[in-house]
Amino acid sequence: MSTTERTYIMIKPDGVQRGLVGKIIQRFEERGYKLIAMKLVQPTEQHLENHYADLKGKPFFPGLIKYMASGPVVAMVWQGLDAVKTGRAMLGATNPLQSPVGSIRGDFCLAVGRNICHGSDSVESAEKEIKLWFPEGVVQYTSALESWIFE
Ligand code: PPS
Repeated sequence: MSTTERTYIMIKPDGVQRGLVGKIIQRFEERGYKLIAMKLVQPTEQHLENHYADLKGKPFFPGLIKYMASGPVVAMVWQGLDAVKTGRAMLGATNPLQSPVGSIRGDFCLAVGRNICHGSDSVESAEKEIKLWFPEGVVQYTSALESWIFE
């Protein structure tokens, strides 16, 4: 398990419109993850179809693309120990009603089609998603906190 594992986390249009950006970022910061890329972007349908290419053919696909293109999203890359799996646990289950209280979805939303955030489901998807959303690359820097977070 690497201390430099990276995951792609996205705050969806409902999370942005509802003013939850700060709260979601705060959870990742407080847990000890390091922010290495972030931008507010209005994604095109074409870009979202690439991001969700594996889901093409699902009955909810057109609605998912429409929802995700309905406003700006916050695209982020977070780095740290077990970032992918722990990041997903912090977001909670895809269906917010099955998300434990204390998780982001379990605390802030109710409907699967308005579940406010996305997180990569594997290290391989994270690499693909980071390249798709940040073709310009991420920011390399040393955080003064790192030696207090990792032995
Ligand atoms: S599946 O069917 O198991 O592949 O789907 P799942 O892994 O549960 O979810 C994949 C992404 O699709 C979103 N999703 C939905 N969006 C809108 N409406 C409905 N009904 C719906 N069901 C699933 C789900 O939130 C996942 O997107 P991300 O961005 O990863 O949250």
